[in-house]
Amino acid sequence: MMGVLNHLSTLLLLSLLPPALSHVVENFSVVPQCKTFFLEGTTPNLPGILVGGTVQNQSRYKPICQKYNNMYRFATLYDTTNKIPVFSAYTFTGKVVGRPKSPGLESIDVEEMKTQHGAKLINNSRDIRVIHQAVDADYNATVTNMILERGHLFPCSHTPDDDTMASTFTLTNVVPQERGFNRGRWCRVEQNVKKTLLEKCKDNKTKAYVVTGAVPSNNNTLNNRVNIPALLWTAFCCYNNNTSNWTVGAYWGRTKTTLGKH
Ligand SMILES: *[C@@H]1O[C@H](CO)[C@@H](O)[C@H](O)[C@H]1NC(C)=O
Ligand SMILES: *[C@@H]1O[C@H](CO)[C@@H](O)[C@H](O)[C@H]1NC(C)=O
Ligand SMILES: *[C@@H]1O[C@H](CO)[C@@H](O)[C@H](O)[C@H]1NC(C)=O
Ligand SMILES: *[C@@H]1O[C@H](CO)[C@@H](O)[C@H](O)[C@H]1NC(C)=O
Ligand SMILES: *[C@@H]1O[C@H](CO)[C@@H](O)[C@H](O)[C@H]1NC(C)=O
Ligand SMILES: *[C@@H]1O[C@H](CO)[C@@H](O)[C@H](O)[C@H]1NC(C)=O
Ligand SMILES: *[C@@H]1O[C@H](CO)[C@@H](O)[C@H](O)[C@H]1NC(C)=O
Ligand SMILES: *[C@@H]1O[C@H](CO)[C@@H](O)[C@H](O)[C@H]1NC(C)=O
Repeated sequence: MMGVLNHLSTLLLLSLLPPALSHVVENFSVVPQCKTFFLEGTTPNLPGILVGGTVQNQSRYKPICQKYNNMYRFATLYDTTNKIPVFSAYTFTGKVVGRPKSPGLESIDVEEMKTQHGAKLINNSRDIRVIHQAVDADYNATVTNMILERGHLFPCSHTPDDDTMASTFTLTNVVPQERGFNRGRWCRVEQNVKKTLLEKCKDNKTKAYVVTGAVPSNNNTLNNRVNIPALLWTAFCCYNNNTSNWTVGAYWGRTKTTLGKH
């Protein structure tokens, strides 16, 4: 258990750094690997935000192809006004065994850490650094009577391997969540989705598509800056080639946003 906690605190420390070479792109089609996180490469339609794969307000919403350790891991649409993601999209495969084991976070070499600090950040990744700098201090603020945590849209429990798990610890994948909701109801939603996908989506292998998003609240912010979302939603689907059946499903949960007792 302590091992796990140590591991997690290392991951939290890493989350203070920009993710290595993640790309802010014009739309998700620009990076071919980024499209693979959506069923048939089709992004969700969110009126006013993302329609037919086109970002409606490009100065506000930033598509990010989340890259870590030289591989694209998932895709995020980030809202720079509310300073939280609109959604993160990823494929679910269950735990993948037999991949080369990652060296472990403690042993990520110095060269790469330098890169993560921004020495070699390329193209639009400067945007990501700015996003991080703006938001990180906010998460350190305390909110009276409510314990807020960084709630992951792409949760650790749905990742196939250690590197992908590490990649989810980025501020562009988290929203402020009240602790009870994060560790209670939403955690159970994540567990139920995982159970369903493992049961229904396994043919010769397991492959499902998941999109998880946040709906911002009207005027509920952390530190007057980071929106504390009003609800979270998640939608998933897979085709099982053995049973010739599609499995689709969705959940949503109203978060606890009112300041007060928890
Ligand atoms: C995505 O961006 C590319 C490159 O700018 C552009 O050619 C393409 O039309 C865009 N696709 C959509 C759906 O907006
Ligand atoms: C686009 O978003 C910016 C904030 O980033 C806002 O100032 C502007 O009014 C928005 N444009 C439209 C057409 O909604
Ligand atoms: C950086 O941007 C340039 C031009 O916009 C492009 O040609 C190049 O491929 C990009 N590099 C990466 C690694 O995306
Ligand atoms: C799916 O079918 C293949 C043969 O077509 C079989 O080997 C495999 O065990 C089946 N998997 C499941 C989960 O039923
Ligand atoms: C939003 O909340 C802030 C701080 O609680 C308050 O000062 C402001 O008047 C509120 N704005 C609206 C539109 O409700
Ligand atoms: C699905 O199953 C059929 C036969 O049952 C096979 O021919 C086909 O290659 C399979 N497709 C995939 C993607 O595995
Ligand atoms: C499972 O994989 C085998 C070997 O790749 C293939 O022949 C078979 O069609 C697959 N079955 C299904 C149901 O996808
Ligand atoms: C496909 O799903 C339907 C409805 O859940 C079920 O009745 C049927 O048995 C499934 N087909 C197979 C081949 O498992």
